[in-house]
Amino acid sequence: MVRWSRVHAHMTTPQTGRILIADDQANVLEALRLLLKGEGYQTESTGSPEGIVTAVKSKDFDLVLTDLNFARDTTSGQEGLDTLTRLQAIDSALPVVVMTAWGSVGLAVEAMRRGARDFIEKPWDNTRLLAILRTQVELSHALREGQRLEAENRLLRTEGRPTLIAESPAMRPVLDLLGRVGPSDANVLITGEHGTGKEVVARSLHALSEQASRPMVTVNAGGFSEGVFESELFGHVKGAFTDAKTDRVGRFELADGGTLFLDEIANVPLNLQAKLLRVLETGELERVGSSKTRRVDVRVLSATNADVAQEVQTGRFREDLLFRLNTIEIHLPALRERREDLPLLANYFLRQFAQRYRKRLTGFESAAMQTLLEYAWPGNVRELEHAVERAVLMAQGELVRSSDLGLRVGREGAGRIDEMSLEDVESLLIKKALARHEGNVSAAADTLGLSRSALYRRLRKYGL
Ligand SMILES: Nc1ncnc2c1ncn2[C@@H]1O[C@H](COP(=O)(O)OP(=O)(O)OP(=O)(O)O)[C@@H](O)[C@H]1O
Ligand SMILES: [Mg+2]
Repeated sequence: MVRWSRVHAHMTTPQTGRILIADDQANVLEALRLLLKGEGYQTESTGSPEGIVTAVKSKDFDLVLTDLNFARDTTSGQEGLDTLTRLQAIDSALPVVVMTAWGSVGLAVEAMRRGARDFIEKPWDNTRLLAILRTQVELSHALREGQRLEAENRLLRTEGRPTLIAESPAMRPVLDLLGRVGPSDANVLITGEHGTGKEVVARSLHALSEQASRPMVTVNAGGFSEGVFESELFGHVKGAFTDAKTDRVGRFELADGGTLFLDEIANVPLNLQAKLLRVLETGELERVGSSKTRRVDVRVLSATNADVAQEVQTGRFREDLLFRLNTIEIHLPALRERREDLPLLANYFLRQFAQRYRKRLTGFESAAMQTLLEYAWPGNVRELEHAVERAVLMAQGELVRSSDLGLRVGREGAGRIDEMSLEDVESLLIKKALARHEGNVSAAADTLGLSRSALYRRLRKYGL
């Protein structure tokens, strides 16, 4: 038996697709169910328009095949037509094929006008019915795939494996973890100061994974207001809120079968943390405004420059969510803790920018390299990248000179903090906190552990 069914499966490729059949006559339902099952379709059936609506709201179907005449009014087809209108509103991408009584072409035309994709007259001809269903199911698959790809393309950059320069001893644990957890599907939390390369590490993890051929989907939790963020993550249905003119696929669904990168995770508001936790625990989510449960299978990488353990202590971050996210934690050391990598990174950026700006530059004068090595790099690799870009633009000879770098070593750099007065350090920290929070005084005060009024007093004192 087993052998036979294998051979059989090779000979006629069975149809894949889930079809909802609706008719108020049990014998019709049974006949259709057997016919479709024989073709390899999965089916569900219902005897009423209400049943169609409930089923479609709670499950994914590739097609609905429905009679237009239901029990309450068996000839006008009005109930069936109204159901079509409702189905359109719920999911306009779901193909509906209607069955009409022999000779009622007017009704069929009206049904098509209301969004039905095709119709068949009863009693139906099996071959014709199957041909219609096959075409519509394939079309719906193609349409959905097209919608998904279009959304992906909008969102994703096509980058391959990123360059990760890491030769220093301080980066060895990072490389070690990358090699070990990259190929797994473990959730990884990446921590480290601003500009230390958290996104580069996320891209590397993804590139090492089995989902590497699929794009990595990124969401920045710091970039949205709360409501918008929820629909970014989970999607929404038409009408969920005033601006929701169409259905929208959320990034969790976009990342299905692949990797989702949640950047700046500490910024996720508490009530969304609960929803996030649920998706991570069960793989289930609902689009905003919909009660239909959808399943996703997503590997989650997340990153933050905040001290999440501290956020947990103060009640701003859920501990249970942290445990879901940091199955593995990769901590990136600050650039000042891996100075061995500095010349490599600097030369790498130099080559890149020299090419971009068409400058014939071969390297750094030794004094310039000395300056790079002495500077404290509070903005880490990103700051180095910007400094080198600027230097490439400024340089006139073949080598970058110290003055091209525009770095004021020992003035702003925390590296010479031991030479600064207490007041200078305080004012420097305040400036940095404000810059980090884009001028938001409350947020900066929070970071500094000051009240708003205490911070305002200091701003006046330092003339900031
Ligand atoms: N080890 C590295 N090798 C090569 N390039 C790097 C490395 N680390 C960082 N970069 C580059 O430095 C820049 C900043 O890195 P990235 O965006 O990954 O930092 P981040 O930690 O995510 O920063 P933020 O906290 O500000 O989001 C990027 O252009 C990245 O390509
Ligand atoms: Mg980043």
